[in-house]
Formats: sequence, C-alpha cells, structure tokens
Amino acid sequence: MATLTAADLSLDHDFARALDEQDELAPFRSHFALALKRPTDIYFVGNSLGPMPLAARAIVNEELDDWSRLGVAGHMGSRRPWFSYHEQLRAPLARLVGALEHEVVAMNSLTANLHLLMTTFYRPSGKRTKLLLEKGAFPSDTYAVHSHVAARGLDPAAHVIELAPRAGEWTLRDEDIEARIAELGDTLALAMLPGVQYRTGQAFDIARITRAVHAVGARCGWDLAHAAGNLALNLHDSNADFAVWCSYKYMNSGPGAVGGAFIHERNARDTELPRHAGWWGNDPKTRFRMDDRFVATAHADAWSLSNPPILAVAPLIASLAEFDAAGIARLRAKSVLMTALLEFLLRGVSDVEILTPTPSPARGAQLSLLFAKNARARYESLLAAGLACDYREPGIVRLAPAPLFNTFDEVWRAAAIVRGS
Ligand SMILES: Cc1ncc(COP(=O)(O)O)c(C=O)c1O
Repeated sequence: MATLTAADLSLDHDFARALDEQDELAPFRSHFALALKRPTDIYFVGNSLGPMPLAARAIVNEELDDWSRLGVAGHMGSRRPWFSYHEQLRAPLARLVGALEHEVVAMNSLTANLHLLMTTFYRPSGKRTKLLLEKGAFPSDTYAVHSHVAARGLDPAAHVIELAPRAGEWTLRDEDIEARIAELGDTLALAMLPGVQYRTGQAFDIARITRAVHAVGARCGWDLAHAAGNLALNLHDSNADFAVWCSYKYMNSGPGAVGGAFIHERNARDTELPRHAGWWGNDPKTRFRMDDRFVATAHADAWSLSNPPILAVAPLIASLAEFDAAGIARLRAKSVLMTALLEFLLRGVSDVEILTPTPSPARGAQLSLLFAKNARARYESLLAAGLACDYREPGIVRLAPAPLFNTFDEVWRAAAIVRGS
C-alpha cells in the first residue's frame, strides 16, 4: 500500500474505495464472521470484542473430536497434545508483541495475570512502597492494584499514586509522567500503565516511560488490553519488566479468551523470584514426579498455575495464524492510514471533539469522540444506522477500525453516519 501523508487525504468516497482496491490485506476480511445484521453494517468494536476467525470453529471442533475419541490419552496423543498445548502459541505470540519466545505465555485472564505479576514485581520495602497508576485506569486494574496494596498491609490511599492529565486536558503528556516518576524517586516501587488508554485511545511510549521508571530504581508493568494486536509492540527492546493482555479484543480470540503475559527475559530466567506457584509453572521435565518442591521453569511459563483450558485456547491458534499471515507491521501501517482518514473525515463535525491524540505513535486504531450534546441519543442513532461502536461516560463514543477486517470504505461510511447524527 502506498505511503500517504495527511496532505494526500481526500473527502471523496472514491478515494476510500481506491485505497481498498490497493489494499493487499483486503482478503483477510473474508476470514472473519463479522456479525453484521445487514451487509452495509459496520463493525468498529473490535477493540471490545474482536470477530470470530472462521478457522476457529474447525480447531475447537478438532479438540472436541479428540476429547471424544481419546479421553485422557489426548493429553499426549491428540493432534495438538494438551500437555504442551500452550507451547505452540509461543512463537506467534512472541512475533505479535515483539518478544522472545521464552518471554511470553498464554494463560488465565488479564486481571488474574496482573495479580500474579504484581506478586512478583510489586515488592514494597523500606520507603520504596508507592505504586503509580493513571487516574481513570480501567476499573479492574484499579481494583487489582488497590487490593494488592491492601493485601500487603499498606493503605492504598497513601501508597497508590494516580497520574492525572493537566486541568482541561484528557490525555497525559510524556514529560509530565517522567516528572512525576522523578519526583517519586526512591519511594516508587512499581509503575503500572496502559499501552493504549481504553477511554481516550492514547498510546504510550513504553520504552521511554520504562526508562524513566528504571532510572529511579523501580519496576514497570503494562496493561496491553488495547495494545496487543493493535500496535506494533517491541516489548523485549522496550525493557518493560512485564506486561499483561487479554486476547478477545484486537486479537479476536473469543469472549473470555485466555489472556497473555510478557516477562522480560532478565526476570523470566530468574527462577528465584517470588511468585504464586502452580504445577504448570514447574519445569515440565519434572512436573510429573509430583515432588513437593516447586522447580520453576526458566521461562515465562513459570508463572502459569494450571493446565490450560484447551477449548478456550484453541481459537487463539486460529487468530494468531491470521496475524502471522498478515504481519503486524503491515497491519499497523494500514491502521495508521485508516485512523488518519477517519480523523480527517470527522474534522469539524459539530459538537464532536476527538480526544485521541493525532500523531500516530500516540494512538492505535481507536478514535474516541466526545459528544458535547445529546451524547447518548447520538450514540443510539449511530447504532441504529448500522455503525457498531461503543459508549463510555461522559459522552464518549469509541470507533475502532481494525486493519485485519475493516475497509476504507467503511471508514468513509462511518464518518458519514457520525456527520449525520
Ligand atoms: C484496559 C483493560 N484492563 C483490564 C480489563 C479486564 O480484563 P479481564 O476481564 O480479561 O480481566 C479490560 C477489559 O476490557 C480492559 O479493557
């Protein structure tokens, strides 16, 4: 796809159609069940629940089939042995998030993984007790952080520090984040931030902020719910200590799909780190000796607790195959263009403010629109016109064209629907 600049964009519907014609990723759309009531409907909520890859059904059915044929023998004898099932996800997951294979694991759900990794990486001691979080973080993160701090016998009101945008602003500035981190200095134990903020769509510079956190001797973890499968992440090089994500949004792996975690190799290789342990984190070579002593595997797998839920993991195999075939770099390039076009087409719509920052490194696929008047009613009118999007208080509509299955024509038509709302 040709590289275009903002100056090349056009309001013309034909311009959008021409971009679709040149789009080498266009065939991927037919690999998904887009849940459209009418063929003209538009699915811009892949940031909430990604659509089903058609190949997922066959893989889930194969697992059901192997279970019915083999019973317990399927652990070792099925076509994808359940004993080592999660291992086949390592390479594609690592490619997707820019990590080494031993730095990633598919397991549990996002919030559960956040708890597991805070057990390891939030180690308050002496005056280093503070946990930095953004104000207005996704509620589950706030609950997890507060409850974790309280479980260590500390008062969250005193030990959880919230980063807020400047008065009158919606998004955080890098320099303000850095200044706050420097100010906290040796009182900071852990910073826990989002790769992409769920409400505003702001993307953070993971490497830059991690560097600032490390400079004061603290650890840095990331919630990538809205970043995995969306941004071209480079987790290993970013030096982040850990990250967690869910797979049901941009990763299209199904409702409640199994989540994932990244643990940087300097930590993943350290078998002495404190952690909550379970038998699936034990070295697989000795797992079935059934010893009392836990022997952590020198791998992100060391944080897994239980044998994986095969039926919940199976769709992830189908979805990661789509990402591998499309390539996250190509997807991201298309996404940057889609979002730029959407923003261009929405400029100047009355009573609509785009909260998401404009430069592409500071955002992913999502644009968050603040409706100054009648927000709920206007949102309902978008739904009625066939534009699937979602609403977050106060008056924010989130639109997320996803490059794997959405088209430039849909971007154009979605903007027309918003303009007419
Ligand atoms: C940013 C963010 N964090 C955490 C969660 C919670 O995820 P889970 O229910 O998988 O724990 C979500 C869910 O949408 C989210 O968007």
